[in-house]
Amino acid sequence: MAGVRAQMQAAGCFACHAVDQKLVGPAYGWVAYRYRGKENAVAILSKAIKDGSSGKWSQYTGGVAMPAHPQLSDAQIKAMAQWVLRRKPVPPPAG
Ligand code: HEC
Repeated sequence: MAGVRAQMQAAGCFACHAVDQKLVGPAYGWVAYRYRGKENAVAILSKAIKDGSSGKWSQYTGGVAMPAHPQLSDAQIKAMAQWVLRRKPVPPPAG
């Protein structure tokens, strides 16, 4: 079974995301910062990865939406959400 990072590479996550800077989507470090210490963070991020997301990061993305990922299993999605939450939390720039 491939590691989480390899699965994310295969799923195309890194085409739109980097850990330490904004690409199309928010830096994973910013996501880790926003959701740090939140009890339901894994569930919130899993839903966003599975069903897609819009409006939560518009101030940084200009309103681009994340597509849904129906090809991924719930277990894969949960592992990805947990991986994102394990990144070093970095506050996004003020704005
Ligand atoms: C086509 C570009 C694109 C791809 C591919 C993509 N994302 Fe995103 N992602 C975004 C954008 C844009 C946002 C911000 C959405 C918003 O404003 O609500 C986002 C937001 C997120 C968030 C934060 C959600 C939240 O609730 O705050 C997580 C976590 C995330 N993506 C993980 C992933 C993972 C894991 C994958 C691969 C399975 C992935 N993304 C693939 C563009 C993308």
